[in-house]
Amino acid sequence: MPGRLEEEALPRRDFLGLAGLWAAAVAVVGSIAGMMRLPMPSVLPEGGHRFRVGRPEELPAGTEQVLPEQKVLLSSTPEGIAAISLVCTHLGCIVARTENGFACPCHGSVFANDGRVIGGPAPSGLKWLEVSQAIDGRLVVNGGRQVESGSYFKV
Ligand code: FES
Repeated sequence: MPGRLEEEALPRRDFLGLAGLWAAAVAVVGSIAGMMRLPMPSVLPEGGHRFRVGRPEELPAGTEQVLPEQKVLLSSTPEGIAAISLVCTHLGCIVARTENGFACPCHGSVFANDGRVIGGPAPSGLKWLEVSQAIDGRLVVNGGRQVESGSYFKV
């Protein structure tokens, strides 16, 4: 142990000053890393894929069907059949069907019945997906191909 008159290897004041500088540097680097990560989504929607659903006659006009595994709502109207993605366009949470449209449980985005954004942080409306019919007569939804909102598949 050094005596009072002996010089310490690293004086206490210098040590505290260096420790403070390192703590400030770590805080600045951590803050910058956090800010750079902000624009990136925490949840990424799955890549699209084609899947078969039922026959058109199983989905009469005026009815709809939620396909939870595919995260899609099938909606049958007099204009035709539409498939609307249930993946929120904000950060990829799954929206819930409500009486007047869709609501995202994560950050409160609200969508109209046709998927338009009517509130919240979502940057765009819910995707409408391509619907076609296979040779066996069953409907096919292409999860990887977006169509214009309001594009119904005519049966
Ligand atoms: S994921 Fe943020 S509002 Fe839906």
